[in-house]
Amino acid sequence: MQIIIIEEYPKMSQQAARFIAQKILAKPNLVLALPTGNTPLGLYCELVRMFKEGLIDFSKVTVFNLDEYLGLPPQHPQSFRSYMHKYFWDHVNLRPESCYIPLSLPENPEAECYRYEQLIASYGGLDLAVLGIGENGHIAFNEPGTPWESLTHIVKLSPETRAREASKFRGLDKVPTHAITMGIKTIMNAREILLLASGEEKALALSRSLKGPITPETPASILQLHPNLTIIADNLAARHL
Ligand code: PGA
Repeated sequence: MQIIIIEEYPKMSQQAARFIAQKILAKPNLVLALPTGNTPLGLYCELVRMFKEGLIDFSKVTVFNLDEYLGLPPQHPQSFRSYMHKYFWDHVNLRPESCYIPLSLPENPEAECYRYEQLIASYGGLDLAVLGIGENGHIAFNEPGTPWESLTHIVKLSPETRAREASKFRGLDKVPTHAITMGIKTIMNAREILLLASGEEKALALSRSLKGPITPETPASILQLHPNLTIIADNLAARHL
């Protein structure tokens, strides 16, 4: 496990973007898993800047989103598909057919989970999974209690997770109740993992995950067993490490 602590969020985002750029230089057809949320906004901004400066070529890269809400039209402003278009996909030279995210309105959600997992496998698995961490220690939408063996599956979102999103949806009742997420095993099967954490509200979850017992109650704690894990955190998130 390699822990990189950077004093401020903008520099942390820059460091994370350089980390990914190095991986793409080493393997131009990199298969990446990517997160949404507040934490990676700076990372996407930096990746787009580096692309515009000719420093990164995404033309052979494949990206898989970690998760997507169920029940939202794909073009809903809060869908993760919309987020990815807005902050990343539309600003770099990724081929549209190489940008994958679970369907938000699948005819058969179970079949969609299976299809997504198979799709990842058809690319030979993930080279690098980039993750954020929830205040409850979740990774992607794997909430506390998720079995370690889980592959891509449907989750019922926890009350804390839904409450945190309520303002974006203008009301708790509008926040989807379910999502599709890569499972813990899908993530752990990635050949490399980069975990990003920013802000004081992540400090406890981060220290519990990296220094506490490995328990499904803290999903990110399983990352302690990953053979190739890097954490990039700002000072505030790293304060209990
Ligand atoms: P955030 O979400 O980046 O918006 O804090 C992270 C997460 O919940 O995984």
